[in-house]
Amino acid sequence: MANASGFLAPSVPSLRLKIQPSTGVSRSGFCFSAGISRRVVCSSGVEGAGTHVSPSQSRVPKLVSKGCKLVGCGSAVPSLSVSNDDLAKIVDTSDEWISVRTGIRNRRVISGKENLRNLAVEAARKALKMADVEPDDLDMILMCTSTRDDVFGDAPKVQRELGCTKSQLAYDITAACSGFVLGLFSASCYIRGGGLRNVLVIGADVVSRFVDWTDRGTCILFGDAAGAVVVQACDAEEDGVLSFDLHSDGEGARHLGAPINDNGINDLLGSNGSASEFPPKRSSYSCVQMNGKEVFRFAVRCVPPSIESALEKADLKASDVDWLLLHQANQRIIDAVATRLEFPREKVISNIANYGNTSAASIPLALDEAVRSGKVKPGHTIAASGFGAGLTWGSAVIRWG
Ligand code: ACO
Repeated sequence: MANASGFLAPSVPSLRLKIQPSTGVSRSGFCFSAGISRRVVCSSGVEGAGTHVSPSQSRVPKLVSKGCKLVGCGSAVPSLSVSNDDLAKIVDTSDEWISVRTGIRNRRVISGKENLRNLAVEAARKALKMADVEPDDLDMILMCTSTRDDVFGDAPKVQRELGCTKSQLAYDITAACSGFVLGLFSASCYIRGGGLRNVLVIGADVVSRFVDWTDRGTCILFGDAAGAVVVQACDAEEDGVLSFDLHSDGEGARHLGAPINDNGINDLLGSNGSASEFPPKRSSYSCVQMNGKEVFRFAVRCVPPSIESALEKADLKASDVDWLLLHQANQRIIDAVATRLEFPREKVISNIANYGNTSAASIPLALDEAVRSGKVKPGHTIAASGFGAGLTWGSAVIRWG
């Protein structure tokens, strides 16, 4: 499974255990691989594969091998700021309706030469600088986005623009507003199981491209942004990525999406089996379609048990955690989840008023602001949770710095 540099070495030890329970595992639970001794713990969640998974049960095992930690963060937003009053000029809405129902007052929207990639690169550069990591010291770049500049992916172009010269693997992850949490999970797996040292995780989205600006039910919600973190290998004692709880449910996809319009292929095949209308017309994606009430219910139902599950895996209680950092979708969702988990208001990070819902960027953007303002300090514990289209949802318990 590994190439010469060990780049794609065996994946998460506990997942490998499920396939080959006896390979390289001593009675004490230590796994010997490539000369490294690592403790491997399998949670019972792995054994349930194939059975129904409730919102609070995850198949993702607790990871307790070699440590990894977040050592740098950065973010970038477009220069054009669009207020609720600006939107009230193009759709039938008001600042009062939007701010009371969502907590949003402004959002940033790309204009001119701005695009997803240059936001991602700016955020990544800031994260690398804070981490004191050179682009060529990165072993991998994970670009979490659902609104890429190029349908085949942007990560390698971000890699090039950052000045990386070593052909490190860079690829995109698509999981909407949960993308950043999944990127963090992937980074921790690659570090713990794959022997990587520095992984750059970028969460970036320009949902403004896929918003119907005549639909007041959706256009008020979204903004564009990028955020990034550097995840670095460390000793187990310094471990700062404590646990995950991850889920998806395609059944709920009907409530939120931007599906492809493939009408151009309808008439391609004639009744006699030959091509009748070839070539096909170009396909395109539709704008964001959302049943807001259902998405709201889903978030309030699924996010609290997911965070509770992640906290349990980290052997922590909500009261042990310094900050609650949720995907910034709606202030009322943030408040409802905080209330359910009994997080006091002063422990809840929120910047939704300034940026709206920035999809995969929202967690690293809010984290970056909180770190740079001195709110989140080294050693602070954060319960983070992303949720959105897919449907996907996932939580992580992390320690900053
Ligand atoms: N301005 C004024 N009135 C509006 C607007 C608006 N912008 N939008 C809707 N309304 C009207 C509706 O037409 C409706 O009018 P009616 O009663 O005459 O029919 C009324 O306000 C109530 O509309 P609802 O949709 O019931 O309003 P609700 O309280 O549910 O709020 C909202 C809507 C803000 C979208 C809310 O449902 C929500 O935030 N849902 C979650 C959205 C979310 O988190 N999405 C995640 C996407 S992340 C991703 O993965 C892409």
